[in-house]
Amino acid sequence: MILDGASPAAITQAVQAIAAGELLGLPTETVYGLAADAVRPDAVARIFAAKGRPSNHPLIVHVADAAGVAHFARDVPGFAQRLMAAFWPGPLTLILPRRPEVGAATAGGQDSIGVRCPSHPVAQAVLQALAQSTPPVWGLAAPSANQFGRVSPTTAAHVAAEFGDSLLVLDGGPCAVGIESAIVDCTRGAPVLLRPGAITRAQVEAACGQRLQGDVAALAALGEAPRASGTLEAHYAPAAKLRLMDAKALQTSLDLLGAEAAHIAVYARTPLRLLSSQVLLRRMPDDAQATAQQLFSVLRDFDAQGVKLIWVELVPATAEWDGVRDRLQRAAAA
Ligand code: TXA
Ligand code: MG
Repeated sequence: MILDGASPAAITQAVQAIAAGELLGLPTETVYGLAADAVRPDAVARIFAAKGRPSNHPLIVHVADAAGVAHFARDVPGFAQRLMAAFWPGPLTLILPRRPEVGAATAGGQDSIGVRCPSHPVAQAVLQALAQSTPPVWGLAAPSANQFGRVSPTTAAHVAAEFGDSLLVLDGGPCAVGIESAIVDCTRGAPVLLRPGAITRAQVEAACGQRLQGDVAALAALGEAPRASGTLEAHYAPAAKLRLMDAKALQTSLDLLGAEAAHIAVYARTPLRLLSSQVLLRRMPDDAQATAQQLFSVLRDFDAQGVKLIWVELVPATAEWDGVRDRLQRAAAA
C-alpha cells in the first residue's frame, strides 16, 4: 500500500508499523529503504528475509540527527565528527565502532555499525516521530528496498514492484540523488572510502582534514574487506545484460547489427546513428548528478520494456562520475 508521505496520518501509520515490528518502505534522498526498528532482532530478520539477503551482510542504521549516533556507536573519532558536521543530514554513511549491547542483528554480527542521517523530509518526519514516541525508537535499519543484487528503487512504485502491495510504502517522490550514499569506514584510524556516492573523494578529504586511505580493493588484498554487499563485484544489476563501451564501439556495434537490431537499449551522451527503429535510445545527461538521479529508473524502464541487452557509453574518468561509474561497472559485472 502506497501512502502520501506528506500526510501526517501516513507518518502516524508508519510509526505504528515500526512499533509493531513491521517493515516500511521509506523514501530517502539517495534511494528508497526497506526499514525496521534497528534494535529489534525479529524486525531486522524480516528485512533480510524479504530481500533474500544473507543475514551476515550488515545494514545501515538511519538516525534523526547526529545526537542519535550515540545510541549505536561506542566511539566517534574526530574526523568522523567533522564528516557529520559537513554532510549530515545527507548522502553519507559512516562505519563506526558499535556499542556491543545494541544492533548485533543489524550489523550482521560485525563489531562495527553503519549510520546515516538522511535529509529527505519524509525520512526526517518518520525518524523524529519515532524518537519522540514511547518507548522511543532511535534508529531504523534500512537497506535499499530491492531484492538482493538488483537495482535500487528510486520511486515508491519501484518499491511496490519489488515487494508487492502488502508492504506499507511512504511516497516521497523520485529520489533527488538517485544512487546510494557514499560509505566511509571510520574504524581504522584513518578514513577509508568503501562505496563512492554523490559526495566526491575531494569533498570528503576537505571536510575531514585527512586523506582517504586505500579503498575496498586494497582492504580485500589484505583479506580485510568488510562483508558489504554494495562492495560485491556484481551488484545493482538489471535483468538485461549490461555492457559499457566508448561511443566509437557503440556506433560500430549498432552499424554491425544494422536494421535487424532488436531488444537492445542504448544509454549514451554522444549522439548516435540508429539503423533500426527497434533500438531504444535514452540520452545520458552531460552532468554526473543528473545521470545519477535517473540511472536506476532508466535501467528499470529498459527491463520493463523487455530488452535483452543494455549498451551504456563509458562515463568520463573524472571524480564527479565515481559513483555512477561504480554502479555501472557492478551492473556490467553481473
Ligand atoms: O543510500 C543508502 O545508503 C541507502 C538508503 C536506503 O539509505 N541504503 C543502502 O543500504 O544502500 P544497503 O544495505 O543496500 O547498502 C549498505 C551498504 C552495504 O554494502 C553494507 O554491507 C554496508 O553498507 N555496510 C553496512 N554496515 C556496515 C558495516 N558495519 N561495515 C561495513 N559495511 C557496512
Ligand atoms: Mg542495496
